[in-house]
Amino acid sequence: MTYETLIHNIGQLVLPKQSSLPLKGDDMKNLRVIDNAAVAISNGKIAWVGSNDEGEAFQATEKIDAKGRLVSPGLVDPHTHLVHGGSREKEMALKQAGVPYLDILKQGGGILSTVEATRSTSEEDLYEKAAFHLERIMSYGVTTVEAKSGYGLDAETELKQLRVAKKLANAYPINLVSTFLGPHAIPKSHKGNEEAFLSEMIDLLETVKKEDLAEFTDIFCETGVFTIEQSRRFMEASKDHGFGVKIHADEIDPLGGTELATSMGAASADHLVAASDDGIKGLAETDTVAVLLPGTTFYLGKDSYARGREMIDSGASVALATDFNPGSCVTENLQLIMSLAALKLKMTPEEIWNAVTVNAAHAIGRGDQAGTLDVGSSADLVIWDAPNYMYIPYHYGVNHTSLVMKNGKTVWE
Ligand code: NIG
Ligand code: FE
Repeated sequence: MTYETLIHNIGQLVLPKQSSLPLKGDDMKNLRVIDNAAVAISNGKIAWVGSNDEGEAFQATEKIDAKGRLVSPGLVDPHTHLVHGGSREKEMALKQAGVPYLDILKQGGGILSTVEATRSTSEEDLYEKAAFHLERIMSYGVTTVEAKSGYGLDAETELKQLRVAKKLANAYPINLVSTFLGPHAIPKSHKGNEEAFLSEMIDLLETVKKEDLAEFTDIFCETGVFTIEQSRRFMEASKDHGFGVKIHADEIDPLGGTELATSMGAASADHLVAASDDGIKGLAETDTVAVLLPGTTFYLGKDSYARGREMIDSGASVALATDFNPGSCVTENLQLIMSLAALKLKMTPEEIWNAVTVNAAHAIGRGDQAGTLDVGSSADLVIWDAPNYMYIPYHYGVNHTSLVMKNGKTVWE
């Protein structure tokens, strides 16, 4: 038997448990790890996993020496705003002057300034810019990523963003899961006419579905953006059209978006900085994944983070994501988020690894295929310049990847 590729001399192999449901509560504390391991790959899939002693005896067309370092599944980033025009570095001074995020939005800046930039950028240029960011995301060890629209707020531009995401998905060796976030803000043209705008976004669902441009929908449920009732209306319509649903919930004000998400069977509820006790209880009782975004809290300069520790201790399922976007979290680096999760959310290294692999995959409907290295799964993996899994959240702010593999092929080195 000759395998296509054998990765040997693995100092430590991280093997998150494949599970049909997201890992909840105490189950997040268990992380399978094998010291001195080897992995064999054939046809883009994991064909064998075991001890290095056994693996050394195998024949393989290509042998990769991991040199005693860490190997893990490719990371999964389940929340990004990848496709957008322009940048917002000028808002930094406003933030330093203490102008709140929602006030910048109310004054027509923030998300609305990126909407203007995205509308005036051609599809080709939007593609080039998003491709640049996507390559950087891959370089950090991510092999499955979610990408939202939401900087069009009109049919033409929302569809333009979604088409760009689809082209990227076809062109790049990464799994890209697309989300329609039409109700991300109220466009200037519809101020005072929120219901009409929401109806327009609901009307768009049919086209998005017909053209197979997104699997999920999302809505920004927040003071001055969309109410709970409006969010419910949009989520119900999305479900009627066959989409999975997600929600930007309880990021700044505790409106009850977390409770709404669990009652609607959402795949995920994201942000949750201001989630209530009842909201957390609901997460523990359901399989809605809490996607926490500590990079955003950090970048918005806030002191109070999502209650990640409490959520896990209560039995909830937690995942982590970058929230990469041009306003509230300008980084493609999911490894940095792992450090913030340790420092600010008080998550353990084992919980953090489960949160960026299996649980992140479940948050975007890929629980059956991403985030694990069990035999039969896609050979999406990372060789890290690190001795063990605890090292990644520990040594922060830099890129530790040495080699990133997607379906058994090296895509970054
Ligand atoms: O997830 N909070 C709402 N939406 C994005 C930010 C978008 C922006 O500021 O451009 C978020 O943080
Ligand atoms: Fe977001």
